[in-house]
Amino acid sequence: MLRLAGGAAAGMLLAPRAAPVSARPVDRHLPFPRRLRLARPQRGVVEATLVAAPATVRVHDRLARLWTYNGSLPGPLLRLREGEHVRLRLTNRLHEETNLHLHGLRVSPAVDDPFLSISPGESVLYEFDVPQGSRGLHWYHPHVHGRVAQQLFAGLAGPILVDAADEPPRPRDVADRVVVLKDLELVDGAPAPHAFADWRRGKEGRLLLVNGALAPALVATDRLLRLRFLNASNARYYRLALEEHAFRLVASDGHALGQPLVVDELLLAPGERADALVALEREGRFALLDLPYDRGAGMMMGGPGGAAGPEPVRLMTIVRPPGIAARAVPPPYAAAEDLRQRPADAVRRLVLAEGMMMGGGFTINGRTFDPGRVELGARLGTVEVWEIENRGRMDHPFHLHTYPFQVLSRNGAPESAVLWKDVVNVRPGEVVRVAVALRDFAGRTVFHCHIVEHEDRGMMGTLEVTPA
Ligand code: C2O
Ligand code: CU
Ligand code: CU
Repeated sequence: MLRLAGGAAAGMLLAPRAAPVSARPVDRHLPFPRRLRLARPQRGVVEATLVAAPATVRVHDRLARLWTYNGSLPGPLLRLREGEHVRLRLTNRLHEETNLHLHGLRVSPAVDDPFLSISPGESVLYEFDVPQGSRGLHWYHPHVHGRVAQQLFAGLAGPILVDAADEPPRPRDVADRVVVLKDLELVDGAPAPHAFADWRRGKEGRLLLVNGALAPALVATDRLLRLRFLNASNARYYRLALEEHAFRLVASDGHALGQPLVVDELLLAPGERADALVALEREGRFALLDLPYDRGAGMMMGGPGGAAGPEPVRLMTIVRPPGIAARAVPPPYAAAEDLRQRPADAVRRLVLAEGMMMGGGFTINGRTFDPGRVELGARLGTVEVWEIENRGRMDHPFHLHTYPFQVLSRNGAPESAVLWKDVVNVRPGEVVRVAVALRDFAGRTVFHCHIVEHEDRGMMGTLEVTPA
C-alpha cells in the first residue's frame, strides 16, 4: 500500500468543517480549488480576470516554477450560474502567445475562438452568456495550436462550475467537491520539457496531483459525497475506483444523466468530467485508486513520465469518521433529450490515424490540421451522425467544441444510456457513432484529439456551421 505523504505543507487549505477523526490523523486535506474573485457590477452580470503568468507554486514538498492562472494550481474555480452574463478578461503575462478556451460551455465560437492568439502583454475580454441547461463541471485552458501541450502541462487549466438558476449554491460544502486530476513532472523545479517520445505518446508525469496536492485526504462530513472529477491532464487516463464502494454516475462532461449509472470504475480520458455520488455506508478510510489502464502507448513507455505501471496508485483517501449525518440521495435529473431515433441530416466518417514515423503527424481523414481549411461544413439546426474511427494503435479521446453530442454506439453495440458528452474515448479499431446537435451558434470551431500533443501535432480539424 502506498502511504499518505507525511509532513504538512505550508499554504495548504484545511477543510473548514472537518469533523474530528477517531483513527489516525489526516496529514493533508483535499484542498478546495481557490475561487476566482468575481465582481458583480449589476444584477446578473459577472466580471473576473484571469492572468496567465509564470508563478512559483508549492507542489507537495517543494517549490516549482509553473505557468498558472492567477498564481494557483489548478487555476481558480470559475463559479457561475445559468443565465448570467460574464465578462472574463484574460491577460497574457507569458512570454509567448496564448488564448482561452471554455471547454464544455456552449458559447459562440466568435467568442470562444480557438483561432484567436493573444500576444504577450495583451488582454482580451471574453464576453458571453452562461446558457440555460449548462449546469455542471466544465473547464478552461489555452488553445493556441502548437502550444497547447506545453502550456497545459506547465499548469494552465482551471475548473468552471455552473449552478442551475434554481439551485442554491453551496460554497465550500464538503459534501460537494470539485476534484481536478492533473499529473506533473518536475525537473530542476520546473515542468519537465517534452522529450521526443512524449510528442507521440502524450506527456505524462509521475506526480498525480489532486487539486494540486499529492495523496490528500477528504474527511467526509456527510455520508453522501458528490465528487466532480475533471481530468485536466495532457495524456494520462484515470481509471478510478474507490475501495469497497461503487460510484453513482449522475453527470458526464457536465451533462446530467436522467438515469444515474451505478459503476465500480470510472474511466476518464483527458478532458472528460464525471460527477459521481458516493454513499459512505461504514466508518473507515477508503483509497481512491487509479487502476492500471492500457491506452496503447505502452510501446512508447519507459523513462520519465512512463509511470503507468501495473500497480494501482492511491490518488487520495476518503475518510468517514463516526457519527456523521445521513443525507438523502437527491432525485435524478430530468431525462435528457434522446436523439437515438432521430434520422440524421448527414452522416460523416472521421478517421483518426497516427503517422508511421516517430514524430510524424497525427491525422484526421488523412490530413493534419490546417487553420485555413474547413474540414467539415454543416448547417445550423441540423443533427448529424459522426462515425469516429480509430485506425491507430493508441486510444484517442475525440472532442468537439461548442456542440455537445450524444453517444449512439460503439462498434455497432448501442449505447444503453442517454449519454451526452463533449469528449468520447475511441479505442484502437473502434468506431464510435455520435449524434451531433448543431444548435445555437453558427461559426467556425474545431474538433480534435484531447491528448493535446496529438492535437498540437495535427489531429484536429475545423467545423464550419452556417446559418440555415
Ligand atoms: Cu479542452 Cu479544444 O479543448
Ligand atoms: Cu473544448
Ligand atoms: Cu490522440
